[in-house]
Amino acid sequence: MTTAKKSLYIKTYGCQMNVYDSTRMADVLIPEGYNETEDISDADVIVLNTCHIREKAAEKVYSELGRIRQIKDGRNKKGKKTLVAVAGCVAQAEGEEILQRAPVVDIVVGPQNYHRLPTLVATAQKTKQRLVDTNFQETDKFRILNKTHTKTQTTPQKRIAPSAFLTVQEGCDKFCTFCVVPYTRGVEYSRPVSDIITEAKKQVALGVREITLLGQNVNAYHGLDENGKSSSLASLLDSLSGIPNLERLRYTTSHPCDMSNDLIAAHRDNPKIMPYLHLPFQAGSDRILKAMNRKHTIALYFDLIDKIRAASPEIALSTDIIVGFPGESDADFEETLAVVEKVRFAQAYSFKYSTRPGTPAAEKTEQVPEHIKSERLQRLQKLLNQHQLAFNQSCVDRTLPVLFEKIGRNPQQYIGRSPYLQSVHVQSNDDLIGQIKRAKIVDAGPNSLQAELNMTQNSTQNHYDTVYAGNTIYN
Ligand code: 5AD
Ligand code: SF4
Repeated sequence: MTTAKKSLYIKTYGCQMNVYDSTRMADVLIPEGYNETEDISDADVIVLNTCHIREKAAEKVYSELGRIRQIKDGRNKKGKKTLVAVAGCVAQAEGEEILQRAPVVDIVVGPQNYHRLPTLVATAQKTKQRLVDTNFQETDKFRILNKTHTKTQTTPQKRIAPSAFLTVQEGCDKFCTFCVVPYTRGVEYSRPVSDIITEAKKQVALGVREITLLGQNVNAYHGLDENGKSSSLASLLDSLSGIPNLERLRYTTSHPCDMSNDLIAAHRDNPKIMPYLHLPFQAGSDRILKAMNRKHTIALYFDLIDKIRAASPEIALSTDIIVGFPGESDADFEETLAVVEKVRFAQAYSFKYSTRPGTPAAEKTEQVPEHIKSERLQRLQKLLNQHQLAFNQSCVDRTLPVLFEKIGRNPQQYIGRSPYLQSVHVQSNDDLIGQIKRAKIVDAGPNSLQAELNMTQNSTQNHYDTVYAGNTIYN
């Protein structure tokens, strides 16, 4: 007799690392008899994988918990008690407090303890006790999670997503004064090279063609290789690029202080590394950078941009910027705008400073009023949007290799990514998912490109090298 599968619903908030972690949580629960569901009211177990980076992100979790309590009254469609687990950075930061604020929650589990989810779930179901597991462990959670790696991200059409995330580094020792990450994700840790290669091969065997290596400080990666020697991110990328059928590599997020020469050279020398780099600078004024404890100046940032562009002239640059950090004057903010004018980012993420309890910047008395933060953000985003549109428009009439990832608004519309991470839309009667095709860009908007497939290519011409050959890269 087979027992009926139980339903698991996971909702992910925040960064790409949470997306990756959610697949790992599914990995450990599926062997325990769970099937993933998209219907929250059907779930036996609900996991909210939360984000604590800014205040709004954390608040969303509590409103979702309020909704869960209201709709469900603690039970699912089958009339069974639903178990609710809060995971992620809010869990790590608030722990026990979540149980107090949200009576619907049964389990609070921090990012270091996902390998223990099956035990936590079974114990909570059996004992009806509410559990908190937010200790930082000595054991390597990745070693335990590795054993159960079966799943990778899927597209909304429930197919294997050709582009996957792979966490190679976690935690951060930089302690920027605005940031909760060193407290929620712990100290910097790099996974061993061989574990990463094994996981990447498994992903590729499932149909993945592009891997984005993840880490809060990914370019500080220093995992051990098989000889027990520390490996840089550049040499990890080099090893990964030897995996057949793995066509594209990306990595995020990088810190300027760890942008080493070998990594810059890898962009020049390794055609599988996509010409795209996310390099946050956060603020344009050295005074503010110092108060943020960023450990770099704007001169160092410009110097890096020059070196990167010299090595890889076609590279698209992206960044993170905060406006309204405590003490930021109008003049400081003008310096941020000046950096943006000078670099002209292809893409950028910008945020109003958000006070995070427990971080040094939260203690500062010179907080910037909300309306000034809003005005600054508006001005900044206007400029960033202009540059993003100009970059997208510069691609019109070019032919770019596009990795198609999912179906769009109609069944003939396919959406993929250019090497520069732009979203590219084409119409096609053929199934393009998982293929790299040359596409001629015919129109560009602020957030996506319209393209037509190059009719001369045959369906096997999807290897990146064939597109990359010679000096006529992307044209
Ligand atoms: N307020 C606003 N933005 C923040 N970030 C991190 N912490 C804060 C905060 N307290 C931004 C930074 C970081 C990105 C992931 O989020 O720009 O690079
Ligand atoms: Fe946070 Fe990034 Fe600074 Fe680390 S380097 S503290 S993750 S902003």
